[in-house]
Amino acid sequence: MLVPVIISGGAGSRLWPVSRELHPKPFMLVDEHSLIQKTFLRAANLAGVTDIITVTSKDTLFLTRDAYLDITHNKKPHFILEPVGRNTAPAIAASALLAAELFGEDTILLALAADHLIQKCESFQNAVEKAAILAKTGRIVTFGIQPSNPETGYGYIEANGSDVVRFIEKPDYEKAVEYVSAGFLWNSGMFCFTAGTMLKELAQHAPEVLKAVKQAIQHQQGDSQEECLLGEKEFSQAPDISIDYAILEKSDKISVVSCDIGWSDIGSWDSISDLAPADENGNQLDGATDSILINSKNNYIKSNANRIVATVGVEDLIIVDTPDALLIANRANAQDVKKVVNRLKEVK
Ligand code: GDD
Ligand code: MG
Repeated sequence: MLVPVIISGGAGSRLWPVSRELHPKPFMLVDEHSLIQKTFLRAANLAGVTDIITVTSKDTLFLTRDAYLDITHNKKPHFILEPVGRNTAPAIAASALLAAELFGEDTILLALAADHLIQKCESFQNAVEKAAILAKTGRIVTFGIQPSNPETGYGYIEANGSDVVRFIEKPDYEKAVEYVSAGFLWNSGMFCFTAGTMLKELAQHAPEVLKAVKQAIQHQQGDSQEECLLGEKEFSQAPDISIDYAILEKSDKISVVSCDIGWSDIGSWDSISDLAPADENGNQLDGATDSILINSKNNYIKSNANRIVATVGVEDLIIVDTPDALLIANRANAQDVKKVVNRLKEVK
């Protein structure tokens, strides 16, 4: 049995001011559907899927449930609700524990980030089939993407066939350049494994995560199969660590399926702007069609503030205008937008 697990959390602070704590990145509209709706539909279209688990903050339950009600499907959603965000290792640990309880330890889980775009559905389905076969043999399977640039926000995979020799999460720029030229793959942030394998690897490499999450499930509130609100006191004890650092860098059971699935991580304004068409001067107007650009080149402008954006003699800027906040950033510094959010938190 294959059960997709949608991991949805974090405020997506590099996409401020559109992504906010109460309107996180997975709910950003791409076309008629938001990223999380697209993720759910992608999961629902996989062969044999009947149940889909979502792990998310208790504060986004209503938003998430509404998003799923707005699309047509016949799958059974389950929600694991986090009282506080503790990053992806505890979230994945909770899904493995719940799936083992509901469907058995041999259940194959497919962890999917809620905020990625995948444009080649059939290639994605083929990759998942290959990954499921490896997962049944006790492997934790990553999906490797051919890198296009030395992005420092990703994990890198050194592979030998389908075996992962080394996994390095978020290297510095020099290392990333080295890895790209050595033919390493990007980690797409999706993983396939059986519940039992993940629980064993957590017990070995991240026992404090497993212990805290087990206790949080024992102290869950409510006892419906559809919703599991984790105990706050217990879940707060889990270390704040991503699955990449907790398991992927440490385990010797990691495999990779190399794939070309039209993947993009909508992680920063720079990666969003990769998807928007450019005019003859390289300017990209994303919903800002009445902008006036004079002598300006290679700017990305998004506006939903109902006013005109005008630029004169500027290059390589990211401009995002919303009713209550305006971002002006240099394209080269797109990753640093999260620092604005950190500063705002300090002020609060
Ligand atoms: N439920 C829950 N709780 N979800 C979370 C939490 C949390 O505390 N923190 C993050 N998430 C979700 C995010 O919404 C996203 O869908 C996914 O988990 C991954 O988290 P990110 O914070 O976006 O990770 P990243 O982009 O820095 O790095 C990961 O993805 C890269 C590719 O996009 C890693 O797996 C990298 O190795 C990978 O290259
Ligand atoms: Mg991400």
